[in-house]
Amino acid sequence: MDLLKVIKERKTIRAFRSDPIPKERIEEILRLAIHAPSAINLQPWEFIVLTGEEKERLSRRLIKAYREKQIACSPGNVKPLPKTYSKRGAKTLEAMLPFFKEMGADPDQFINEGSCNFYGAPVAVLICLDDSFPKPRMVDIGLALGYFVLTAHEFGLGTCPIGLIIAYEDEIKDLLNIPENKNVVIGVALGYPNSDIPINRFKSPRDDLEKFVRWIE
Ligand SMILES: Cc1cc2nc3c(=O)[nH]c(=O)nc-3n(C[C@H](O)[C@H](O)[C@H](O)COP(=O)(O)O)c2cc1C
Repeated sequence: MDLLKVIKERKTIRAFRSDPIPKERIEEILRLAIHAPSAINLQPWEFIVLTGEEKERLSRRLIKAYREKQIACSPGNVKPLPKTYSKRGAKTLEAMLPFFKEMGADPDQFINEGSCNFYGAPVAVLICLDDSFPKPRMVDIGLALGYFVLTAHEFGLGTCPIGLIIAYEDEIKDLLNIPENKNVVIGVALGYPNSDIPINRFKSPRDDLEKFVRWIE
C-alpha cells in the first residue's frame, strides 16, 4: 500500500476481534516502528508487549482501578484549555454519539472502561521512557507511536493509542514489576478491527489546515 493511502485511511479502532496476532507480526511492526527518528539517535523507547492471559490480567487491574478512582479520559491539561481545543474535543465526541446510540452504549463507560480493557484487543503494548530523559524526548516516543500505528494499518491491523491508563501508572508498574526509574508514557491496543461494531465506522474530523499554520514568507 502506498504511504499516503495509509496515512489517509488509518483511524483509531475501538472494537477488536479476539483473534491472536502471530508474535512474528507484532515483532515486524515493532521493528518498523523503531525506524522512527530520535534525537541523537538515542532510541529512548522501551516496549512492553502483553498478550493472552497477561493482557487480560492488566485489563482487570486497570478496570478495577478505574472503578475505584474514576479518573476518566481527558486531555490532562495543566491549565484551563483554550476554547479552540475544548470545542474540538466536544465536536469529536458529539460526532461519535450516534454510533454509541446505535450500540446502546453509554459513551463514558464505553470509552473509559474500553480504554482500560484495550477495547478487547488481544495485544496491549506499553511504551516506556527512562526517567533520566527530559520532556522533549516524549517527541521521540510520539514518533515511534506514529510509525507503529501506520505500520499496523498497513498489515490490516487496528490500533488505539491509550493515554487514559497513565492515570493508573502506579498500578501498571506494580503489576508488571516495571522499575521505578521507567515512566509508562502511552499504551496501544493492537488487533484485528471488529467491523461489525458501529463505533469502528466513525472517522474523526480534522479542522482546515489554515487553522494550524502561520506562514512567514
Ligand atoms: C496520545 C494519545 C492518547 C490517546 N488516548 C486515548 C484513550 O485513552 N482512549 C481512547 O479511546 N482513545 C485515545 N486516543 C485516540 C484519540 O482519541 C484519537 O486518536 C483521536 O480522536 C483522533 O482520531 P483518529 O485516531 O481516528 O484519527 C489517544 C490518542 C493519542 C494520540
